[in-house]
Amino acid sequence: MKSVKGTRDLLPRDTYLFQQLEQGALVHFARYGFREIRTPIFEETQLFLRGIGDETDIVSKEMYSFEDKGGRSITLRPELTAAVCRAVIQHQLVGPTDIVKLMYMGPMFRYERPQAGRYRQFYQLGVEVFGSDDPLIDVETIEALMSFIQPYGLPNLELIVNSVGDSTDRPAYLAYLREALDDVRDQLCNDCQTRMVRNVLRVLDCKNENCQSLFGELRPISDFLSHENRQHFEAVCNGLSQLGIPYRLNPKLVRGLDYYTKTAFELVSGDLGAQSAVMGGGRYDNLVQTLGGPATPAFGWAMGLDRMASLLAARGMEEKGPDLFLVFGERSWLDQALPWIVKLRHQGLEVTYDLRVGSFKSQMKRANRENARWTGIIGTAEWANGTVSMKHMATSEQTTLARENVAKFIEEQHA
Ligand code: HAM
Repeated sequence: MKSVKGTRDLLPRDTYLFQQLEQGALVHFARYGFREIRTPIFEETQLFLRGIGDETDIVSKEMYSFEDKGGRSITLRPELTAAVCRAVIQHQLVGPTDIVKLMYMGPMFRYERPQAGRYRQFYQLGVEVFGSDDPLIDVETIEALMSFIQPYGLPNLELIVNSVGDSTDRPAYLAYLREALDDVRDQLCNDCQTRMVRNVLRVLDCKNENCQSLFGELRPISDFLSHENRQHFEAVCNGLSQLGIPYRLNPKLVRGLDYYTKTAFELVSGDLGAQSAVMGGGRYDNLVQTLGGPATPAFGWAMGLDRMASLLAARGMEEKGPDLFLVFGERSWLDQALPWIVKLRHQGLEVTYDLRVGSFKSQMKRANRENARWTGIIGTAEWANGTVSMKHMATSEQTTLARENVAKFIEEQHA
């Protein structure tokens, strides 16, 4: 038996990278006032229909929906923004003057065509800020993202921003698009022809080169933005520049979810092939209200952890080995040394050994394979006088120590 198509096991080499990101995120985003929320893996289907938009690919083609034994229509969460809004409303987390910052991480489910970097169960780490439409929130929340990933030193990342307007100005742009595309309708791909009827903004996102060449002459949405929305977008761009965050304007960036208003953005990588979006997000000032809550402007983004982890792996980031690998001359010495080994672990060291206690050579080979920092060799002389010969694996330097001093020694070496 194998894991279901589009799903995969995260093995220790993968979970190590995920943990780095998740643990780092809890510390980093706490500095900005974010607190973690954990919502259920499944929700009522209706939540995503109303929240994400029933003409989006996610809702129309990709949801894992089923009827439970009680006859309810249930859906495995394809994203978390709608679910977090549901929780915010249900628990009345946001009052009229509050700003609430929530973060989350966990699995999402979309029935997409699997390919490199695209899975049917994938993982996101995201943040959502409720309670303000101030452009400063957009800037600050994008900055929090950029400074989170900055220490990983990933090259070829580009921040792309746009404003998609809102109900005050977008309808005019949609009407313009329909009219402008009417003449070339027959030359558009089948998907775009459907989008023209159901969700015309999404044509801009089409990957088909022929379609894109037909869109070359289209006016950008920025021509249609209301004075207020234009000012908002300018404030976001100026704020990013003020913080020294480079970005590129792309008037064709529209995102695949219908709830966005004003700012929309993505971080794309040149190193990921076709699935280049590492994360995406933006402002969604109407979603809480659409889902039955009070008018609550909001902003957020979600990062694809699978894609981030693959970028980190490509940069050579990997699990560190044990602090100490013990090599014994005889198996019976290992049995007798067990209380000492247990004590080392209680002192905070990661200690391992080869249970078969073969030749020195095979044990040393294994220490190498496991990427141990130190190897502690206990041969006849060491066993007789209660010492260990400590070999630093990276430099091959060697020192002999009394056994009881090992924990202190390693701690001092890595202080
Ligand atoms: P999204 O763009 O649909 O946005 O997903 C965010 C990120 O999740 C993507 O950039 C990508 O890295 C990752 N991702 C999406 N689908 C897959 C997949 N099938 N396999 C692997 N990774 C994937 C949202 O989900 C919004 N809720 C973001 C947001 C939060 N907007 C406001 N707040």
